Amino acid sequence: MLEQIVKPLLSWYDGHARILPWREDNHPYRVWVSEIMLQQTRVEAVKPFFERFLSALPDVDALAACPEDDLLKLWEGLGYYNRVRNMQKAAQVVVGEYGGVFPADYEKLLALPGIGRYTAGAIGSIAFGLQVPAVDGNVLRVLSRVKASYEDILKQSVKSALEQEVKKIIPAKRAGDFNQALIEIGAIVCVPNGKARCPECPLSFCCRAFSEGIVDELPKKKEKKERRVEERTVLILREGDRVAIRKRPSKGLLAGLYELPNLNGYLGEEEVLDHVKSMGLSPLRILPLAGAKHIFSHVEWRMTGYAVSLEETEDMDQEGMFFIDAKETEKKYPIPAAFAAYARYMDIVLGQEKYEERQ
Ligand code: ADE
Repeated sequence: MLEQIVKPLLSWYDGHARILPWREDNHPYRVWVSEIMLQQTRVEAVKPFFERFLSALPDVDALAACPEDDLLKLWEGLGYYNRVRNMQKAAQVVVGEYGGVFPADYEKLLALPGIGRYTAGAIGSIAFGLQVPAVDGNVLRVLSRVKASYEDILKQSVKSALEQEVKKIIPAKRAGDFNQALIEIGAIVCVPNGKARCPECPLSFCCRAFSEGIVDELPKKKEKKERRVEERTVLILREGDRVAIRKRPSKGLLAGLYELPNLNGYLGEEEVLDHVKSMGLSPLRILPLAGAKHIFSHVEWRMTGYAVSLEETEDMDQEGMFFIDAKETEKKYPIPAAFAAYARYMDIVLGQEKYEERQ
């Protein structure tokens, strides 16, 4: 049944593919970096990050050798930092085991850290022309609609079955274009939020959801588990032009990044002052700051904050916490965007906003 989508899809792609920086050249390193960035981030947001990353680390050898703090700094604002840590591990394997050349082999790509079936399929097909599927959320949406399938697309079994179906129809000469065309239809025609643009779609002639009038009902996704909510109190401990930061543990959420000191729960002014004094610091003034929220995939932080100015005393640095020039953090210390609302108060901006404000 799906065979009939191949020709119209490729003709449409020839006339409508967006011009995107990673499409200028299908080198596997570029395809890989773009696909990892695009996994959790919108195309428009990825563009400047992609250019910056490629200029700083133009090849797999540069990525393999990059100091961790510099790497995290390059990723700052994209979030989901394990993506880039895994990329570095994979780069080290490519350099160590394959002499710096990506293997043109789906199974070998799949075996690299951080590369799942979708990414192996995207690199395999786009960079090497292999006839392997690259089924992401866009493709699942498009095909569930074409087939009028009510199956739960979050189920691995449903995804695997679709991959098998797609594999059978991938054209030998244009595997990468075919996969990208399906992704592209999902991104700009058969869109995830808002009304699908069926009149513009080259697949509407055979789309069962379109002919049955059920496009808006598909795809089906089982309700996700609710996120755990954590309440935190974020502190800007300031002495003159210096502020306190600390390094997060090397495992878990935002591992290895720097953060503003923060405490579990919502604390009142007195509790914060007591806590600061218990650290051997001498608070002069305390100012409550506005609340903020940051959503991760499994956790949501609801934050309140205080700016506390401190008297200069000896030995202010503590186990794991130290004072730096507020300006230094921009260059040296990767602080995740989760703290952006509070970082504002230390005269720096972080993450995505940095780009939006500076472009
Ligand atoms: N989303 C995921 N992969 C993509 C690609 N190669 N081009 C555009 N959007 C994408």
